[in-house]
Amino acid sequence: MTEELMLHLGTQATRVERELDTLLSSGVLESEIARPDRLLAAMRHGALNGGKRIRPVLLMEVAHLFGRSDDGALLAGCALELVHCYSLVHDDLPAMDDDDLRRGKPTVHIAFDEATAILAGDALLTLAFDVICDDHVHEDPAIRLRLTRELARASGIGGMAGGQMLDLESEHRDRNEQEIRKLQSMKTGALLRFACRAGAILGRASDEELARLTRFGEIIGLAFQLADDLLDVEASAEAMGKATGKDAEAGKATLVSLLGTSATRTELQALLDEAQTLLAPFGSNAATLVALAEYIAKRDR
Ligand code: IPE
Ligand code: IPE
Ligand code: MG
Ligand code: MG
Ligand code: MG
Repeated sequence: MTEELMLHLGTQATRVERELDTLLSSGVLESEIARPDRLLAAMRHGALNGGKRIRPVLLMEVAHLFGRSDDGALLAGCALELVHCYSLVHDDLPAMDDDDLRRGKPTVHIAFDEATAILAGDALLTLAFDVICDDHVHEDPAIRLRLTRELARASGIGGMAGGQMLDLESEHRDRNEQEIRKLQSMKTGALLRFACRAGAILGRASDEELARLTRFGEIIGLAFQLADDLLDVEASAEAMGKATGKDAEAGKATLVSLLGTSATRTELQALLDEAQTLLAPFGSNAATLVALAEYIAKRDR
């Protein structure tokens, strides 16, 4: 990735960080009653500082491909990031992965307590839906409604939460390759796919373009998870800011444990090639997205 591109992506991530900071401020919104300090502090702990902001940056880059670089895409990206942060707060709970470290800091239930972490997750998730239907997301209410429904479906039983259920069940049962691919397309894939679809929907993409970007999102989802599983085997907790070796420890089969690291790297390269072909019709405008795909597949944290 060129230095210019790295800087651009860094700038976009900083915009996300600032907007999240504003959304998680103490000011009470119309029809809210009060924002308890401890819950707000726990939500801020779970959402600010340290995240790579891959999902909102992806959403903004896809929207930009369709000529939209207004704050609407930033807000939609923040809504998505809030869902992602909630999923991590709950994923780390003792009843789930029981992790103490996230983004190089103590997890929310360690820094606060379990009940507060559960509530922080709940409140991050509900805030996400407040943000996605904000008037500033898009001038057309039909588009805001469509994004709201899409975010619900990507996050809920048929998406991320459903994938987390299947993932937890794999601690106690063997899964074949096809089953693992399905659970990963839900657990991590659904939110990344939403990022790409939301960017295209904001930009009023044609059906053909939306299908193309949806497939691109699925490729990113798979590449992201393959890289996460590789890092779980190969990287240190220090580099990752979270515990590693967790999948093997939990007896969970991953595509990496099934296919081996070398076949995984071959598949990652094939996914990148497909991503490039998919975006070719957009010409040089898609260069940033292609680079982002490469970063996601080859990241080191
Ligand atoms: C980590 O996601 C959790 C998974 C979905 C596997 P990221 O690697 O995007 O985490 P942050 O947001 O940068 O911490
Ligand atoms: C978490 O997957 C996915 C979601 C939170 C939806 P993992 O449990 O593999 O993520 P890490 O490795 O803890 O970040
Ligand atoms: Mg997990
Ligand atoms: Mg986990
Ligand atoms: Mg993992």
